[in-house]
Amino acid sequence: MIVTVCLNPAIDVTYRVPELSVGRSHRVREVHARAGGKGINVARVLHQLAEPVTIAGLCGGTTGAEIAADLQRSGLRAVLTPISGQSRRTVTVVDAREATVLNEPGPQVSAAEWAAFGTAFSELVQAVRVVVMSGSVPPGCPDTSYAELVATARANGAAVVLDAEGEQLRHALGARPDVAKPNAVEVAHVFGRPVTTRRDALDAAQLLCDRGASTGIVSLGAEGFVAVTPSAAYDVRLPRQIPGNQTGAGDALAAALARGLARDDPWPELIADGAAVSAAAVAVPVAGGVATDIMAELRPGVVIEEV
Ligand SMILES: Nc1ncnc2c1ncn2[C@@H]1O[C@H](COP(=O)(O)OP(=O)(O)OP(=O)(O)O)[C@@H](O)[C@H]1O
Ligand SMILES: [Mg+2]
Repeated sequence: MIVTVCLNPAIDVTYRVPELSVGRSHRVREVHARAGGKGINVARVLHQLAEPVTIAGLCGGTTGAEIAADLQRSGLRAVLTPISGQSRRTVTVVDAREATVLNEPGPQVSAAEWAAFGTAFSELVQAVRVVVMSGSVPPGCPDTSYAELVATARANGAAVVLDAEGEQLRHALGARPDVAKPNAVEVAHVFGRPVTTRRDALDAAQLLCDRGASTGIVSLGAEGFVAVTPSAAYDVRLPRQIPGNQTGAGDALAAALARGLARDDPWPELIADGAAVSAAAVAVPVAGGVATDIMAELRPGVVIEEV
C-alpha cells in the first residue's frame, strides 16, 4: 500500500469564462469543484492506475467536510486529522487562452493538531511500502514538518518520495528520503543557483543526493527530467511534447515513482514509467488524472541516456 500526505488539501474551484479581463465582471459558463492539493492529486493518479492508496491529511471546517465527502465519492480512502481552522479553496479561472490561479495559504494549524497528525501518521505507516509527501504545508506547521514525517516513515520501513520546496525541502533532505523530486525552479531556489541547462539540472540532482536523498530527480516540464540514482545518472526525454495542462504533471511523476518503488522495479524501468505517466497527465485537463492511451503510446519511445 502507498500513503500520500496532503497537509493542505483544498476544494479546487474552476470557473470557465470566454475571456478573462482584470477589473471586469464575468458571466461564468461552467463551474467545477473537487478536492485537490498535490497529495490528493497523487492519490487520484495511483487510484486510476489501480494501486491501493490512502491519503493522510489535515482537514477542517465546512471546506474540510466537502473535501472528505468528495474523496469518498471518488472512492479514495483517507485518514483525516480534524483541525479547528477552515481548509482552503483554490480558484482557477480558465479562458480561451490561459488559466489564472488563486491559491489560499490554508488554515492556521496548532501545535496540538500537528502532534495529533504525527500520531495518526505513525500508526498509518506501519504496514506501508511507500509514502509520498508533496505540496504546501499550512501555516503553523513547523518548517521541519516533512523532515519529521520522513523520519517516521523510514523508522517504520517505508520508502519516501518527497516533492517539496523551500525550507520544507531543505530540512527534509537531511532526514534521508529515498527520492526527492523538485522541479528546476524549486531546486534552483533551494540551492540558490540557476538551473537553466540539463547539466545544471544534473548537478542539482547530485546536490539533492549530497544533502541526503538516495535519488535526486529534477523535472524539466516538457523537456523530461534528470535523475541521479544510487547506481547511475540518467537523462530522460519524451518522444514528443504533449499539449495541454502541465499542472499536475509533477504529481503524476511522483505517483509513478511511488508505484515503481512499491514494486521494486529496476531504475531504468521505473524512470521510463515515470516519464510516460507524467507526460500522459498533461493530456488531461485537470490535475490528478492520466490519459492511459497516451501513456501506453509514449512508453516504448521514452529515451533514457545514462550519463
Ligand atoms: N508538455 C509536456 N509534454 C510531455 N511531458 C511533460 C510535459 N510537461 C511535463 N511533462 C512530464 O511531466 C514531468 C513533470 O513536469 P514538471 O517538471 O512540469 O513538474 P512540476 O513543475 O512539478 O508540476 P506540478 O507541480 O504542477 O505537478 C516532466 O518531467 C515530464 O516527464
Ligand atoms: Mg511540482
